[in-house]
Amino acid sequence: MSDPFVVEVRNLTKVYGDGAAVRALDGATFTIRAGEFVSIVGPSGSGKSTLLNLLGALDRPTSGEVIINGKLLSKVRDLDSFRSKTVGFVFQMHNLIPTLTAQENVEVPMHETVFSGGKRRARAAELLELVGLKGRMRFLPNQMSGGERQRVAMARALVNHPAIVLADEPTGNLDTANTLEIMALMSDLNRSQNTTLIVVTHNHEVARATKRVITLRDGKVQSDVAVKSTFDSDLIDFKNSALGQAILQDDGLPPELREVAPALRRLLEKV
Ligand SMILES: Nc1ncnc2c1ncn2[C@@H]1O[C@H](COP(=O)(O)OP(=O)(O)OP(=O)(O)O)[C@@H](O)[C@H]1O
Ligand SMILES: [Mg+2]
Repeated sequence: MSDPFVVEVRNLTKVYGDGAAVRALDGATFTIRAGEFVSIVGPSGSGKSTLLNLLGALDRPTSGEVIINGKLLSKVRDLDSFRSKTVGFVFQMHNLIPTLTAQENVEVPMHETVFSGGKRRARAAELLELVGLKGRMRFLPNQMSGGERQRVAMARALVNHPAIVLADEPTGNLDTANTLEIMALMSDLNRSQNTTLIVVTHNHEVARATKRVITLRDGKVQSDVAVKSTFDSDLIDFKNSALGQAILQDDGLPPELREVAPALRRLLEKV
């Protein structure tokens, strides 16, 4: 039996303003099943962030329907509570609280749950380990690299076992090595935890690492195609390159890669 739909979008339309109104979404329709890994691409202004905000119940549509996990969002009374139980968010700017440690940041969304302090700390630790940050639990955001901060944001997004994780340009501020690492993490989460991931991106490499690409244009779904992920073979190419070998042998590394080299080495050792 195939997985149930976790996202159903019907004729979704969002118009901003009234005078010179902008039709940011214009009748978008699609469904996403549990366990899918989907990217949403399209030119600037095509409605990607608008769509993500509607899927995450951060905004209301002008018309049309969004059903998440079988719940029609227009009928949900307490959207805040729905959101914190059902949706995990990762944004381009990681939005970590600068005065809280990695572990405390991951615990934040659990403060609305019934879990005790001990349970919250244990769950945060478990997730930080899952994203490869076991040794960074007590670090503050400014003591971590951009890629590490984004991994903390990913751990925070997963903490309440969300039905969907929505990411808007999660690698937008990262260099190539960190982008690769975040994509490897997302692929791994999708494969090992069956996490349903929906990622908005401008980056073709990122889109190619997902399993399905929905392209928006002028607020409409222009195409919706399954991709055979080339991520593993891309990683093998990288492993065989001079840089990949330098990382594996920890020899002749450019200074800007020193920080991410250990994580990349672990990744390359796996392929
Ligand atoms: N709060 C708002 N008020 C008015 N217009 C808005 C608002 N948010 C977005 N828009 C407009 O809606 C359209 C779609 O914007 P949206 O942010 O969804 O695009 P996007 O595909 O995410 O673009 P980008 O790739 O640049 O992030 C744009 O024309 C934008 O100017
Ligand atoms: Mg956007």
